Amino acid sequence: MEEGKGRVCVTGGTGFIASWLIMRLLDHGYSVTTTVRSELDPEHRNSKDLSFLKNLPGASERLRIFHADLSHPDGFDAAIAGCTGVLHVATPVDFEDKEPEEVITQRAINGTLGILKSCLKSGTVKRVVYTSSNAAVFYNDKDVDMMDETFWSDVDYIRKLDSWGKSYAISKTLTERAALEFAEEHGLDLVTLIPSMVVGPFICPKFAGSVRSSLALILGNVKLKICCVMNRSHTLFVYAIAFAFAFNV
Ligand SMILES: NC(=O)c1ccc[n+]([C@@H]2O[C@H](COP(=O)([O-])OP(=O)(O)OC[C@H]3O[C@@H](n4cnc5c(N)ncnc54)[C@H](OP(=O)(O)O)[C@@H]3O)[C@@H](O)[C@H]2O)c1
Repeated sequence: MEEGKGRVCVTGGTGFIASWLIMRLLDHGYSVTTTVRSELDPEHRNSKDLSFLKNLPGASERLRIFHADLSHPDGFDAAIAGCTGVLHVATPVDFEDKEPEEVITQRAINGTLGILKSCLKSGTVKRVVYTSSNAAVFYNDKDVDMMDETFWSDVDYIRKLDSWGKSYAISKTLTERAALEFAEEHGLDLVTLIPSMVVGPFICPKFAGSVRSSLALILGNVKLKICCVMNRSHTLFVYAIAFAFAFNV
């Protein structure tokens, strides 16, 4: 058993949100395991620079980095073993619909279910926080001013839209549903979070997709439209609440 506050796994450590979570968890005294895609992945030929994670305060003592890919759903056991909590953040983000929607969706669902199975196998995980999206909520024909988490995006409705990022919205909708069903069936304590667009400074080397979209008017990319904006601290505040609730901190 890990000493101190225990160990938490954050999937997708190279990402915008996940890297902030890792930094904050380390700040608060947690030990952290994160998963990143291997630089040997055929889709990712460039070697990844993970120094921004390795150099975080506390990282040399308390951060472990594992390779795991959602395309290999049974590859998360080692990263999750011994963790008390899992923040599942990694997702295929393909706003330009480069891959067929079915491929993206299957990868997201299978990878997520693989992670949830690893949580059950571990015998140590008390709570899983799955990062969903407002894209799983607002794409439907409901004519209302406000929507909350009781609303779901309608996959058939999304397919008919002439809009970018359809595969992302469909995959987020179907993955959250699959995760909730799995958790219900297996008695796993799962919280899903529904951030809207997250913007703000980023500590990862990659130009975060949502920050790029939010700057679309300035950068001149008219294809990327802004649906809504919630600032980073708000979203991280939501995470903090879920996290505190999960671990009684
Ligand atoms: N940012 C927002 O405005 C926003 C809003 C609502 C919800 N969300 C959700 O928040 C989460 C994080 O978003 P983000 O903005 O931080 O995105 P991001 O910076 O693009 O991070 C996505 C992460 O997922 C990883 N990933 C992608 N495909 C993978 C695969 N096949 N196997 C393993 N890892 C994979 C990426 O790894 P690589 O670095 O190797 O590509 C990256 O670490 C996502 O679940 C997203 O849906 C974000």
